[in-house]
Amino acid sequence: MKRLTIILLCMIVVSLQYSCKLEKETTSDQMMNVFVEDLIQKMTLEEKIGQISLFTSDWSTTGPSMRNDYIDLIKQGKAGSVFNAFTVDFVKELQRIAVEETRLHIPLLFGYDVIHGHRTIFPIPLGQASTWDTTMIEKAERIAAIEATAEGLNWVFTPMVDIARDPRWGRVMEGGGEDTFLGSQIAAARVKGLQGASLSDNNTVMACVKHFAAYGAPQAGRDYHAVDMSERSLFEWYLPVYKAAVDAGAGSVMTSFNEIAGVPSTSNKWLLTELLREQWKFDGFVVTDYNSINELIPHGVASDQAHAAELSINAGVDMDMQGSAFLDQIAELVKSKKVSEETINNAVRRILIAKYKLGLFDDPYKYCDKKRETEEIMTPEFREFAREVAAKSCVLLKNENKTLPVSANVKKIALIGPLADSKEDMLGFWSAAGQADKCVTLLEGLKNKLKGSVNIITVKGCNVLDDGFDEIGKAVSLARNVDFVILALGENRMMSGEAASRTNISLPGLQMKLAEAVIKTGKPVAVVLFNGRPLAIPELNKITPAILETWFGGTEAGNGIADVLFGDVNPSGKLTMTFPLNVGQIPVFYNTKNTGRPINPDNPHEKYKSNYLDSPNTPLYPFGYGLSYTSFNYSDIKLNKESFGMNDRIIASVDVTNTGVMDGEEIVQLYVRDMVGDVTRPVKELKGFKKIHLNKGETVTVAFTISPEDLAYYHQNMSFSADTGDFELFIGTNSEETKNKMVTIK
Ligand code: BGC
Repeated sequence: MKRLTIILLCMIVVSLQYSCKLEKETTSDQMMNVFVEDLIQKMTLEEKIGQISLFTSDWSTTGPSMRNDYIDLIKQGKAGSVFNAFTVDFVKELQRIAVEETRLHIPLLFGYDVIHGHRTIFPIPLGQASTWDTTMIEKAERIAAIEATAEGLNWVFTPMVDIARDPRWGRVMEGGGEDTFLGSQIAAARVKGLQGASLSDNNTVMACVKHFAAYGAPQAGRDYHAVDMSERSLFEWYLPVYKAAVDAGAGSVMTSFNEIAGVPSTSNKWLLTELLREQWKFDGFVVTDYNSINELIPHGVASDQAHAAELSINAGVDMDMQGSAFLDQIAELVKSKKVSEETINNAVRRILIAKYKLGLFDDPYKYCDKKRETEEIMTPEFREFAREVAAKSCVLLKNENKTLPVSANVKKIALIGPLADSKEDMLGFWSAAGQADKCVTLLEGLKNKLKGSVNIITVKGCNVLDDGFDEIGKAVSLARNVDFVILALGENRMMSGEAASRTNISLPGLQMKLAEAVIKTGKPVAVVLFNGRPLAIPELNKITPAILETWFGGTEAGNGIADVLFGDVNPSGKLTMTFPLNVGQIPVFYNTKNTGRPINPDNPHEKYKSNYLDSPNTPLYPFGYGLSYTSFNYSDIKLNKESFGMNDRIIASVDVTNTGVMDGEEIVQLYVRDMVGDVTRPVKELKGFKKIHLNKGETVTVAFTISPEDLAYYHQNMSFSADTGDFELFIGTNSEETKNKMVTIK
């Protein structure tokens, strides 16, 4: 039947080619458009409303399930998409109901939060970002897509690309960090990995860029709080990352919960229609975040649900996630002409096109392959790669006296701390269908590596949060009897992620007390940190010789971390979010402004300068920071010329030498500063980076090409261009330790 329709459609298309002059579209686009228009013509308003409504499935102890009233909605054509439903048999059954029991047989989309892996869980996105390796990140998303599609999914609520400068906000764990340049590259890589070469393949999923927009800048770091910023900051720092994901072809965009300057995103016509569709030419569909339409009422811009539905559909929302506002209100709104049927058709069209591009009209069961479900989940290769990513995500924050890697002479290790053997916590927040029992803890990772050659004794010491459990005395006695101590400290997985803002971001509970007591024994100690955000840990930094940041490393966390601790992998991760010295500094980020009264470095507390009475301005660890077991020397910057014209470019290079005793990887970073602008410019902006591998003793020349477009910015009148004048270039190992050189655009 479908084939016959296609043949007829082809014939119509051929004639259309001559009569309608659809020159720009390809024949397959034309076929798609004709098919979709034909379907829309046949749809009742009720069926259209079904297509723009999305409802959740559940997970009960026996497996996936769905409320009966939602199943009834599917049967009646009143739910066009489902989320949180996966596993082949279950998805197949829901899809069967949609294509066999509804009048128009329109297949469902199946969406899910596959944030850092589906079954094989990779490190949290903030951890993956620390690799600065977009190829690796793209491959992790490819694997996530293979596994998700093997379990029936065709749509994922990823990538989360919100730029975040406030570590109190728990959702920093889901993103790429604080920088727009790096974040944009990561966003594009994620979309490419998920959507692969073609959306119509059976192992690719449609991406959903979120949370549009500026969700990462809630006031005071409190989740869902209002966002208020200048138009310039929005355009310069926050929006480009979503744009990069859209330009990479993301099929859908999710609105954010927050308001921006008084207008909630879900009712923001400027954001969703003028900017996203008209200026950025986004041609996919816009889904709300969970229940966001109804939240327009407490936001105070809608008087009731009907008003909320009217505002959001007219602003450019195409699909209502879980709110039932479209389902309950749109028919009446169309009848009263508050919403035009054309607006509904536009939303329906975008969703049907997405379904068409995924190939669901050709084969609604294409993601329901039992064989794939058993063969393409958690394969040894996927796990091996997850181990590699877990190791490469680690950031070595401190390593005095070469405490790490653990020496081969060590014969007895004490592994102490609440995160030493916690499978659940390795998953991190938003761990999709990841299973705790499949996770490798640090204890298991150490045992796997050492295979009995080293005696490992473990004690918890305390819990993550203070609940009265105190084994500090026991931990100290244990530490006294070993050659080396590993302290596994940090947050539990629920302390970051959605609705997990914190005002105190130091080590929770008794952990600092535990660390102090154990370190006092004088034994060599390395702290292994697990956390979903930058922590404020100046005291820990002061007393601990070595600190390895491992985030939440996913399924293979323990093996990957053990690889780093024992030197099989030389750490190469670099922070993509600044670690503050204290909460009072927040927001603290590298690309700040100089101010009219910049701090005097020789007298940091000088009165009437931009500083604090009681804290330095500098953070604990800056953006781009991370150590290696080897050392790298940077030559001065060489330029191919001192100045360049507006149509020209300049090449800046450095020689980087591995001066240590191990092979290693280094992330060479390029920053610029525009010395005089039409508006004030940041003291540094990342404009390039290269991750290089250097054998010990090896020297590599790393060159960056810089053109005037790279130096463009938003002027007072919001025009985007570069100025002539002087620019300072910085190339170095992190945002603070760099070589500098001036260049001029003439
Ligand atoms: C989150 C989204 C997520 C959605 C569906 C919301 O609470 O903000 O990021 O995609 O739930 O699970």
